[in-house]
Amino acid sequence: MGLHLEFEAGAVIVAGGSGGIGEAIALAFAKAGMPVVITYHSNEAKAAAIKAAIEAAGGRCECHRVDLADVAQVNALFADMTSRHGRIADVVYAAGPHFDFNFIGAIPDEQWHHVVNADINGAFHLIQGAVRVFRKQGDGGNLVAVITSAIERVPIADIMSAAPKAAIQMLMRGVAKEAGRFNIRANCVGPGWINAGLGKKGLEEKLDEKSREAIRTKTIPLQRFGEADDIANAVLFLCSRQASFITGQSLAVDGGLQL
Ligand SMILES: NC(=O)c1ccc[n+]([C@@H]2O[C@H](COP(=O)([O-])OP(=O)(O)OC[C@H]3O[C@@H](n4cnc5c(N)ncnc54)[C@H](OP(=O)(O)O)[C@@H]3O)[C@@H](O)[C@H]2O)c1
Repeated sequence: MGLHLEFEAGAVIVAGGSGGIGEAIALAFAKAGMPVVITYHSNEAKAAAIKAAIEAAGGRCECHRVDLADVAQVNALFADMTSRHGRIADVVYAAGPHFDFNFIGAIPDEQWHHVVNADINGAFHLIQGAVRVFRKQGDGGNLVAVITSAIERVPIADIMSAAPKAAIQMLMRGVAKEAGRFNIRANCVGPGWINAGLGKKGLEEKLDEKSREAIRTKTIPLQRFGEADDIANAVLFLCSRQASFITGQSLAVDGGLQL
């Protein structure tokens, strides 16, 4: 018999639920019977399609447009959620801005500022809002941030992915240490090359077949690109009762890429 994951009652917020990885996380929580709230930034049609798919399968879902870089929008989301849903069980950060691979010396100043603002400040607003809600509801809650396995080793031409995510990882470890006594857990999942969202775009649009094969066979011990469900499975495990003694950790889900 397989491991059956159990979850505390309450709604799940998946920030960046309209993304390739966020979609898989939202669908997996819905399949586990949890009411899901997904946020999107620009892709309203994709968010609506995910909501429709979840509802067609008998699940509960709502979607909200939220710019995570705007603290007022994040606070409004939490106020709305707590007034209508009661308990929030889990908050997942699965958002992040788009950018191209670039060497540090060639990154335009305005692009760096945009990425840092959207990713670090966006995650901070969400994490802070979640901690406040978890404390107020009195019995805690779980936070998971989707970061990147690229923080384990310094990546070439991908610092805009790794540097903000390293900051987010430290924020999450800080939450784990400061708020553990309130039964608040905070963990990270670090994707490697995932065949969805940003990773799929990079693999298909920025690399030719030869480069893709070189990455797959020479840099990934398990010799395959990951799927969004690989990330969703790790996120759900970290939010489950079965992970109730795990906090402040980062789980690389990358086929061994970071070794
Ligand atoms: N896919 C991979 O291979 C891979 C590997 C390592 C790390 N990651 C990280 O995992 C996270 C999710 O990746 P993904 O592949 O699913 O990317 P994605 O498909 O591009 O999705 C990104 C999500 O973030 C949202 N978003 C962007 N800017 C936002 C903002 N200012 N406020 C609120 N939401 C915002 C997007 O909303 P809209 O689409 O509605 O605008 C979308 O829901 C990212 O942080 C990425 O860096 C991905």
